[in-house]
Amino acid sequence: MNLKERDKKHLWHPLTQHKLHPDALPIVKAEGALLYDDEGKEYIDGIASWYTAMYGHCNPYIIEKVNEQMRTLDQIVFAGFTHEPAVQLSEELIKILPNNQEKIFFSDNGSTANEVGIKMALQYHFNRGEKRNTIIAFNDGFHGDTFGAMSASGLSVYNGPFEDFFIDVQRIPTPNKENFEEVLKELLRIISTYNVAAFIYEPLVQGANAMHMFEAKYLNEILKVCNTNNIITIADEVMTGFGKTGKNFASEYIETKPDIISMSKALTAGFVPMAITSCTQEIYDTFLDDSVGKAFFHAHTYSANPIACSVAIAGIELLRSKEIQDNIYRIIKSHEEFDIKIKKHPKIKTTRQQGVIYALDLNIEMDRYGKKRYEIFNHFMKQGVCLRPLGKTIYILPPYVITKRQLNKVYETILSLLSSL
Ligand SMILES: Cc1ncc(COP(=O)(O)O)c(C=O)c1O
Repeated sequence: MNLKERDKKHLWHPLTQHKLHPDALPIVKAEGALLYDDEGKEYIDGIASWYTAMYGHCNPYIIEKVNEQMRTLDQIVFAGFTHEPAVQLSEELIKILPNNQEKIFFSDNGSTANEVGIKMALQYHFNRGEKRNTIIAFNDGFHGDTFGAMSASGLSVYNGPFEDFFIDVQRIPTPNKENFEEVLKELLRIISTYNVAAFIYEPLVQGANAMHMFEAKYLNEILKVCNTNNIITIADEVMTGFGKTGKNFASEYIETKPDIISMSKALTAGFVPMAITSCTQEIYDTFLDDSVGKAFFHAHTYSANPIACSVAIAGIELLRSKEIQDNIYRIIKSHEEFDIKIKKHPKIKTTRQQGVIYALDLNIEMDRYGKKRYEIFNHFMKQGVCLRPLGKTIYILPPYVITKRQLNKVYETILSLLSSL
């Protein structure tokens, strides 16, 4: 049996209706911006494997650092113990986070980073003797698949079986020039009607919502209203973090800084899962008390795993290097040039860009997981480019190390798709 056949015997894949899509493509090797399948065919990873492997797959610098760490300390309980990689990571991260962030808390993935953020916000009010139990979120945001994160996610077309168990979430649309006054009005109505604990949002780019983008200045006004009402603001930077928007964190574009930031994905550069939720000193201080019950009783077995921390430290070093910063700049400029060339194409409805994230909407109607979506995906894969359309949206979010030639091939493949439609 080959890998594809063996896979079918015991494996259950995420986001997959196995009756309609029984086959998974075996990938046997990855290097830089390239993936290789079991028949030796190569693919350019145009989405950095769900925005993780930003410094390139199997990055040799990270491998060297991890290797050292693996020989020194593999794992230690993080309740009551500490270690150099966790301490060093906290120091390095604080240097690049918005400067109101002071404390970092570990978990395992983007969903749990948000789950932690939501729980921190709820307990912040609880510890201060206030009962606040409503969360505000954007209509079509995505924050993950655990219960709190799933409740906050407006993109929940497939969450029907769980809706009766959601935490209380009130929604507002993402703001723009046209709806801004209405959004503010609705925000104020929600605040006066419910006991709002927190507002969770993806800053500037909603990844799963087909790379929907909105302006910093409107978000800033919403954050100011939250601050005035002591509503804890949680920036979900799971997708946007670590350079993708052109700055280390999207929150840097917004004047009002969040109280809490969740991050994962590129934090560990595609090597191992890990997540972090950072917060202000003020939030942390609310948990300090003679009563044990006011502590934050949330833990994951692998919290601050030393190997994952060593990956993250190496990742941050790479992010701050001139080489990677130059690459980010090169990709931004390259997308801008591509956009000028392509945006008037009759098969394109709109285009948008934020940093290295480039997206276009096709001028055709199609379902998010419908037949056409798979045809387009297969068109790209046949040509050796891995791009995963989100419904009618095609987006590029490449590893920073993608070469000029590889990036041009991604563009050419999109152009060839447009000609074929
Ligand atoms: C903005 C955002 N938040 C949270 C998540 C969930 O992260 P994970 O899949 O690691 O649980 C994602 C995943 O795509 C995301 O894009």
